[in-house]
Amino acid sequence: MYPLPDGLFAARNQWYIAAWSEEVSRNPMERWILDEPVALYRKENGEAVALEGRCPHRGFPLGKSRVVGDNVQCGYHGITFHSDGSCAAIPSQPAIPAACRLKAYPLVEQWKWLWIWMGDPALADESLIPHEDELGLTDGDHVIASGGYDLVAGRYMLLHDNLFDLTHVGYLHMPNIGAGGGAQDTVPEIRTGPNWISSLYTQRNVDIPQFFSRLQNHTGKVDRLQGLKLFLPCLHMGGSQIFLPQGEDGRPGKRLGSLRVYHGVTPATRDSSHYFFAIGQSWSDDPAASQELFDYNRRSTFQEDMMATECIEEMIQKMGGRLSEILVKADVACVTGRRMFERMIRAELSADTADRGTLTTTG
Ligand code: FES
Ligand SMILES: [Fe+2]
Repeated sequence: MYPLPDGLFAARNQWYIAAWSEEVSRNPMERWILDEPVALYRKENGEAVALEGRCPHRGFPLGKSRVVGDNVQCGYHGITFHSDGSCAAIPSQPAIPAACRLKAYPLVEQWKWLWIWMGDPALADESLIPHEDELGLTDGDHVIASGGYDLVAGRYMLLHDNLFDLTHVGYLHMPNIGAGGGAQDTVPEIRTGPNWISSLYTQRNVDIPQFFSRLQNHTGKVDRLQGLKLFLPCLHMGGSQIFLPQGEDGRPGKRLGSLRVYHGVTPATRDSSHYFFAIGQSWSDDPAASQELFDYNRRSTFQEDMMATECIEEMIQKMGGRLSEILVKADVACVTGRRMFERMIRAELSADTADRGTLTTTG
């Protein structure tokens, strides 16, 4: 499905962010992931659990049911399930049919995220989750404000498209962080690895953007580096740094400030997505400074990105599920990234065909 080729939706044998740790409690919550309902809750010892969220009896959502001890009890007729998905009790009979069980999904709590594996549990290798050191969460360079979440009425690849192309900053975000210029005339340098893609936009001797000028109390020319690295299939780590212009000897100027942004994108259904975000800054140890930045971006930048995504989703729906497009130079990361997603899904499909495992595509 657009912007991927027809028939391709999302890879299942991958780790996705299911929730912020703080969202999951002793009260179950429902979250659709990769077009499946999931119930998330915590056991008495605090360990988080992810179970199939649809009761096999009449389909009542277990995310709207109740937790009893370490089990979840369906809120409709009381069938109770253990945290491994097996049935603990059916109120009206002692016999438990084999079909009366739930899928249990591998779930890992790392940093402040809960990562879920929706595919074959036997393939769930925790070492594939981007490590917090690799994500710059332990280097002490930035104070991070976290916990941002929205359900976006748009397919997940539209959010990746948005993040692959920062030339939108000077236009879509013109009223806020894009005021005074973005990277609209800069073609990014792209790098790729086996499971990541990064884009770097370098601007030399440009006017300091108004957003940074206010934050840094600085005016005049600066050098600017910004970019994003996507750890497929889910997490973008972004940065935006402002320096005094480099000297004639080519040495970089003093860093005035640095922002770091994290965008987690998880497919909810075919046309909706979970969007998790966090943001940090380098110039103050005071968490209130990061929180202020977080609140500002939550009100402005993220709303603008979600607005664009939802408008395009609506356009696709009204065009019957297809959208013709032209590609320009600035789409280099977008095109490369889409191909990586396509390869990832096709590789899984080939493996599925080989061993007749679960299907991973939808139209
Ligand atoms: S729908 Fe769950 S017990 Fe009936
Ligand atoms: Fe944006």
